[in-house]
Amino acid sequence: MSNPPRPAKPFVKWVGGKRSILDTLVDRAPQSYQRYVEPFVGGGALFFRLQPAPALLADINERLITTYQALRDDVDQVIALLTQHAAAHSADYYYQARVELSAATDPAQVAAWFIYLNKTCYNGLYRVNRRGGFNVPLGDYTDPPILDEPNLRAAATALQGVELTHGAFDAVEPRTGDFCYLDPPYHQTYAGYSAAMFGEAEHVRLAAYCDRIDTAGGRFLLSNSDTPLVRELYATYTIEVVSAGRSVSREASQRGRADELLIRNY
Ligand SMILES: C[S@@+](CC[C@H](N)C(=O)[O-])C[C@H]1O[C@@H](n2cnc3c(N)ncnc32)[C@H](O)[C@@H]1O
Repeated sequence: MSNPPRPAKPFVKWVGGKRSILDTLVDRAPQSYQRYVEPFVGGGALFFRLQPAPALLADINERLITTYQALRDDVDQVIALLTQHAAAHSADYYYQARVELSAATDPAQVAAWFIYLNKTCYNGLYRVNRRGGFNVPLGDYTDPPILDEPNLRAAATALQGVELTHGAFDAVEPRTGDFCYLDPPYHQTYAGYSAAMFGEAEHVRLAAYCDRIDTAGGRFLLSNSDTPLVRELYATYTIEVVSAGRSVSREASQRGRADELLIRNY
């Protein structure tokens, strides 16, 4: 019998983090599969809850993926550097850190700057200018929780053996037996995660990717906003309306604004 996974939670605050519908996602995830795949991993809320193996995590945000890699491969060094940043934290230090992040190439350095900035910046946003420089202003916190060593170690444990890649979602080749959880920037909502926007054309590409997973013999679970385009793109699959974390069945006319859709091919 294997030991239950050590509790771990996302080590970054991430826009679109899935805390409110996490229990519903866990409920809908298949009982068994050959590989867990999450091509829009962000903060990885579902991954850290399930701690599945083997797993492949990907995202278009290169610094985020480098941060995951550094935690997996060198958590001690990330903690040592982050301890220094936490001790030195001030407004001046924050604005200097933004410059340092752009210049950093060593993975542990990138990771420590990335986590430090994520915990202290405005709302945990990640936004870069055309040259890739992180440009979110300092957040308004008196005592931000910069270093959570037990959680960083638990995250590092969960990441052992995990494959991490940086790139567009459809660069991940689907395989038979995959369970693929897809949490894209939602249609018609905030999409400023990267220089490349996630507009209608991307949503059409994503639906084609879901068809590829289906044809390859994998299963996918997708979360998205409840818009006519999304309903049309996935009309042949199972569509469930989820409101404030709970599954609901209601007339379209009574739908609240916070509704989202869970779409699956199983
Ligand atoms: C809604 S967030 C995922 C949130 C995540 N489920 C969580 O629990 O924090 C969407 C993610 O998709 C990534 N992304 C945006 N466009 C992408 C693309 N074309 N290919 C892969 N990832 C992309 C963003 O960097 C962001 O991390």
